[in-house]
Amino acid sequence: MTTSLVHSCFHRGHEQVVFFNYPDFGLRIIIAIHDTTLGPSLGGCRMREYASEDQALEDVLRLSEGMTYKSALAGLPLGGGKAVILCNPALQEGRQALFHKFGECLNALAGRYISAEDMGTSVRDVMWMREASKFVVGTDPKQGGAGDPSPWTALGVLEAMRAAVAYRSGGDPSLKGKRVSVQGIGHVGMHLVKLLSEQGAKVSVSDSHEDALIRASQEFGATAVPLEAIYDVPCDIFSPCAVGQTVNKDTLKRLSCSIIAGAANNQLPDRSVYEILSAKKVVYCPDFAANSGGVICVSAEMRQGAPDMKWVDKKVRGIFDTTTQVLVEAERRGRFPEEVAVELAKERIAAAKSRRQP
Ligand SMILES: NC(=O)c1ccc[n+]([C@@H]2O[C@H](COP(=O)([O-])OP(=O)(O)OC[C@H]3O[C@@H](n4cnc5c(N)ncnc54)[C@H](O)[C@@H]3O)[C@@H](O)[C@H]2O)c1
Repeated sequence: MTTSLVHSCFHRGHEQVVFFNYPDFGLRIIIAIHDTTLGPSLGGCRMREYASEDQALEDVLRLSEGMTYKSALAGLPLGGGKAVILCNPALQEGRQALFHKFGECLNALAGRYISAEDMGTSVRDVMWMREASKFVVGTDPKQGGAGDPSPWTALGVLEAMRAAVAYRSGGDPSLKGKRVSVQGIGHVGMHLVKLLSEQGAKVSVSDSHEDALIRASQEFGATAVPLEAIYDVPCDIFSPCAVGQTVNKDTLKRLSCSIIAGAANNQLPDRSVYEILSAKKVVYCPDFAANSGGVICVSAEMRQGAPDMKWVDKKVRGIFDTTTQVLVEAERRGRFPEEVAVELAKERIAAAKSRRQP
């Protein structure tokens, strides 16, 4: 591990970073627990072939810290954590044994970290983890789980968009007639396109999967555009729902939107784009506020009894108020919304700490 990454662990405030190494299972895991002030850390398990171990560590540190702010801002009694398995996600042979072993690693952490599915892992993998450990959520609804979080993530993004539209217009949240460009129509994006079409929005979509483009246009009347062209389509709202960092200094030269709200994590590469977005008067909905519907959904499995999907629905619709609060506070504090969202999350954590002090 390089000195700068060790520094990064301490500097970002991580409580614990654990490495598990089982060559017989082809299993190399890093689990990062960022903050457990509000409750056990929760975050998905990402399976990915990284260019280097350092890159994997950097990823898990960044993602686990983001989970702390996401859950705190959503008002969940949870901390932030994340796991990465350094492995080809297409692996089939020995997969079940690998996830059993992963479950044993969770047991070693005794509930300080709760896992779930993420990029490269699925409900099936989670069910294999579950065979070895109870510290798992995002399980199969047929076996008492809350089910696929993606539709809830999409609903939360829709609520964030409505809040941003209301904030800009001075009250009316209607998306009717609004031109929305959705980049990436996978699990979340396709649900979002459906919801937007129901709201009367005019939707443009891009994705490399031809089948998805056909479905979005035939079922929901969306206009499909080539991957790169999505940045040039005149629109009111740009919604990144594919990968991170697509809102950058190059794409911002082309985007005509006045609002950005999407599901992708880490949409902005760094703080340098704050100035560009502010100068263009773009209302930016922080990604970890807009996309918290998924963690709200899976966290329902940690409450007493069967997952209460009415509670999930109400909580996810609360993303409207959370986004409004962030945008209003950002204006009041003269800060960028993403900074203020982190500040609000940290204030909640600090308040919980001070309540605990004798
Ligand atoms: N699934 C959830 O509940 C959830 C929760 C929080 C955050 N997120 C984040 O939201 C994003 C979408 O999640 P998902 O579950 O829908 O993932 P997904 O893999 O199902 O869908 C992503 C889609 O984006 C497409 N894509 C990739 N690169 C693209 C590009 N450059 N231009 C256009 N399309 C591109 C892919 O072909 C795919 O169809 C991810 O960044 C994910 O981390 C998802």
